[in-house]
Amino acid sequence: MTPSSPLRLALRLHHSIPLPRLHLSFSSLSRSMSPAMEPQERPQVEASAPRSNDFSSDGVAHKSKVTVVGSGNWGSVAAKLLASNTLRLGSFHDEVRMWVYEETLTTGAKLTDVINSINENVKYLPGVKLGKNVVADPDLENAVKDANMLVFVTPHQFMEGICRKLVGKIKGNVEAISLIKGMEVKMEGPCMISSLISQQLGINCCVLMGANIANEIAMEKFSEATVGYRENRQIADKWVQLFSTPYFLVTAVQDVEGVELCGTLKNVVALAAGFVDGLEMGNNTKAAIMRIGLREMKAFSKLLFSSVKDTTFFESCGVADLITTCLGGRNRKVAEAFAKNGGKRSFDELEAEMLQGQKLQGVSTAREVYEVLSHRGWLELFPLFATVHEICIGHLPPSAIVEHRERRPRLSLLDGSATQYC
Ligand SMILES: NC(=O)c1ccc[n+]([C@@H]2O[C@H](COP(=O)([O-])OP(=O)(O)OC[C@H]3O[C@@H](n4cnc5c(N)ncnc54)[C@H](O)[C@@H]3O)[C@@H](O)[C@H]2O)c1
Repeated sequence: MTPSSPLRLALRLHHSIPLPRLHLSFSSLSRSMSPAMEPQERPQVEASAPRSNDFSSDGVAHKSKVTVVGSGNWGSVAAKLLASNTLRLGSFHDEVRMWVYEETLTTGAKLTDVINSINENVKYLPGVKLGKNVVADPDLENAVKDANMLVFVTPHQFMEGICRKLVGKIKGNVEAISLIKGMEVKMEGPCMISSLISQQLGINCCVLMGANIANEIAMEKFSEATVGYRENRQIADKWVQLFSTPYFLVTAVQDVEGVELCGTLKNVVALAAGFVDGLEMGNNTKAAIMRIGLREMKAFSKLLFSSVKDTTFFESCGVADLITTCLGGRNRKVAEAFAKNGGKRSFDELEAEMLQGQKLQGVSTAREVYEVLSHRGWLELFPLFATVHEICIGHLPPSAIVEHRERRPRLSLLDGSATQYC
């Protein structure tokens, strides 16, 4: 396959390296992005001195061991990506352990047994081999006990319970990353999933978000992702290295909250895009909804965390994820069906019928965002977010998605600092 000019341009801009010559094959282009040829962009982790979590008390360097907590559609694809890299990179154990929420399949077999025998998650990622070094484990405690790199990737509503079970069960010097899109709303305010993990387990937690519809990455189609980190660039680079492949390009930005809120809030906008599709309102309307949604995503994020950077919204986790989710994600798909049915069939019913066990995140996130907006007196500032929730719970018809402007947004008010409102 010969890469098209826009793709070549995108890759060139992404890597800030000169592309050799025209008429490269995609595979040779991919090789041109390999670690050996990208000294200034690729993480230096392999070459640099090992960090504290690479050593035991005897001072001997140890390989990092990776466990994936979660085994749904994205969880399985993440395990596949990681497993291809742990085999290739000398500083990691080959095995990637994957905690599976055990299920009995219609055949009567246990999902874990099937994954371990045919190397495929037949329920959540059928038809894709995960790599022989992926080991499915139904025992959460056992799955994490030897790991020092934990990848969390479950639907967000299960994370609080999972963290509770893991307290005191993980090793010291563990690093975590969350691929989970969503937040928990507590009495004291919203809590991002990476903070929940950090607070409950006492470990540092980065995030990875991006324009990443799992099934496309499973097919090894080119895409990008963003790692958000708090302070430790070396750890961020290690995650970048662990996830990057020639078809999955990962960059790191120092903005955990910005990256995570982008990934979380775009699911609410995707519901709005789905309503527009269900009502056959056309592309102009959908583009308008995406633009208004992006503006609310940015304003909401910056009101919650004044540290959130404008530039984050131009990374893969921002505008790119918003576009792909509004064009092809499951939230859009189910919202389209909801609107086509005039809001008469509930999201729960449609989710069960259309997603075969996969979970919608947008509806619960819309409710959580609405709780924050009501609690802080911000409802009027975020008409799109507020309208999406009110449609989801049946207080407004799907057609209200283009009437929300009548609430007269005062987003110009949001140009000030977060402290004005918090
Ligand atoms: N699928 C994607 O394309 C995609 C892409 C990027 C990010 N994400 C995010 O990744 C996260 C995980 O999504 P996914 O697509 O891997 O999952 P999924 O929706 O495909 O599957 C649901 C998972 O939840 C598990 N589960 C069901 N009940 C449970 C319980 N009580 N406790 C714990 N687990 C339970 C199921 O076994 C299954 O593994 C979500 O936050 C999602 O937003 C998904």
